[in-house]
Amino acid sequence: MGLFNLCFLWLLLISVSSTNACDRCLHQSKAAFFSTPSSLSSGACGYGSSASSLYGSHLAAAVGSIYKSGSGCGACFQVRCKDSKVCSKAGTQVIVTDLNKNNDTDFVMTPRAFMAMANKGMAHSLLKLGVADVEYKRVPCDYKGNNLTVRVEESTKKPNYLALKFLYQGGQTEIVGVDVAQVGSSSWTYMTRNYGAVWDTSRAPAGPLQLRLVVTSGYDGKWIWAKSVMPVDWTIGGVYDCGVQINDIAQEGCGECDDQNWKS
Ligand SMILES: *[C@@H]1O[C@H](CO)[C@@H](O)[C@H](O)[C@H]1NC(C)=O
Ligand SMILES: *[C@@H]1O[C@H](CO)[C@@H](O)[C@H](O)[C@H]1NC(C)=O
Repeated sequence: MGLFNLCFLWLLLISVSSTNACDRCLHQSKAAFFSTPSSLSSGACGYGSSASSLYGSHLAAAVGSIYKSGSGCGACFQVRCKDSKVCSKAGTQVIVTDLNKNNDTDFVMTPRAFMAMANKGMAHSLLKLGVADVEYKRVPCDYKGNNLTVRVEESTKKPNYLALKFLYQGGQTEIVGVDVAQVGSSSWTYMTRNYGAVWDTSRAPAGPLQLRLVVTSGYDGKWIWAKSVMPVDWTIGGVYDCGVQINDIAQEGCGECDDQNWKS
């Protein structure tokens, strides 16, 4: 793992220990919705058309403090609007697929996700509000049996340049490091986050390929080892099951922890 990652984890540790350490911090903000549904398929995380298979199109653009230069891509949040006449107590869940550059609202959601916060028969009234006062907390992403998956990006140039996009990233963590090696080899090459959910290297080994990830977990980092991911004849555009899933939860530091009264 690179020096940068070690520093990152150390800083994370310091920032967590100086405030309350929580599984779930409760945040108060506002949320809006996209008026053009296509805006999300070009989202900054790079999920492209894969985004529609994530979380039933409950997608969101999040402000910079959540997007975190791309490491927040794929994070899941439970969001509920605070107008009890219009909105349900449970709210809905969204996955971060884009960066929202407007700091007035922490999330800009797909209309489908926005309306899902409403009580029965109130979706129209909620849409009319346009912007809603919300509270939200991070929750583990649950892909119901899907493993962590990689897609080989079109920018890949065999034999040495490899760009991988991570899909179905479970748990409540961030991927802070990725290494790649030939299956059976212990000669690991590190990858770097190119943007959003896409990691790359210009020193890719020949297939078959295994991956080793560092994810945030608890107060610390943890290795996830996907022993066999891509076959010898992997292809550009190919989608490969990692055979493992992340289900760890990273602690965050915050003023107010969710008191668990908010049942989903
Ligand atoms: C939004 O907030 C970030 C971080 O606090 C800040 O760097 C940025 O300048 C803000 N952008 C706008 C448009 O206010
Ligand atoms: C996930 O990985 C496990 C272990 O490798 C495998 O048995 C299972 O079939 C995979 N699940 C899916 C949905 O591919």
